[in-house]
Amino acid sequence: MPNFPSALADSGRTGEETLFARIAGDIRESGYSINPLALEPQLLQPLMQHVQAMAPDMFARAGTGRQRDHVLNDFVRRDEICWISGDSTAGAAWLDWAGRLRQFLNRELLLGLFSFESHFAHYGPGDFYRRHYDAFRGEANRMLSLVAYLNPHWQTGEGGELVLYRDGEDQEGIRVLPTPGTLVAFLSEEFPHEVLPAERDRYSVAGWFRLNTSVSGRVDPPR
Ligand code: OGA
Ligand code: MN
Repeated sequence: MPNFPSALADSGRTGEETLFARIAGDIRESGYSINPLALEPQLLQPLMQHVQAMAPDMFARAGTGRQRDHVLNDFVRRDEICWISGDSTAGAAWLDWAGRLRQFLNRELLLGLFSFESHFAHYGPGDFYRRHYDAFRGEANRMLSLVAYLNPHWQTGEGGELVLYRDGEDQEGIRVLPTPGTLVAFLSEEFPHEVLPAERDRYSVAGWFRLNTSVSGRVDPPR
């Protein structure tokens, strides 16, 4: 048996393509994909360093689309976020990576993903995000959600799990620990999910692939 360099599987795929192929297969099969230790160190390490080094005033309290209702907002989510523009090297590398994933998924699944928006999120001790959907049916906006975790370590018992529910009725869900480099992807309209309160600071990067609504509005007439 020949020895292949670790980044190259025997199919000739890079580690990145192997991951992309796994995500595509999972999305096709079940609509979601959970991948521990997925992000490669050269992408993960700078993101982790960047998010830990960011000044607290770069983060803003996250909203729910009903920003003026502070009471409701506090009830639904307590995290703070910072949108990624590509100004930082780490943020730009993440956006590039997501762009390559977008192209791969469009080729493999014919999804027609058009754009990507993404933010860092910081949950302080006790912060949470109650059960929610990232998109609503018929609004033809967010198609696929991504979350990756930027914590140097995480153990069972520290809270902060993402709970991904299989559908609107599921009360049990699948618990995902926010361990370093874990990457979760799911169809935004299909899977309610929540973030449980954690004992310590919890860092993640979340992003959404959108459809081109102007084009899909013409191609798919309103039902
Ligand atoms: C979100 C979200 C999950 C997480 O930002 O919409 O659901 O695990 N985040 O951080
Ligand atoms: Mn969400």
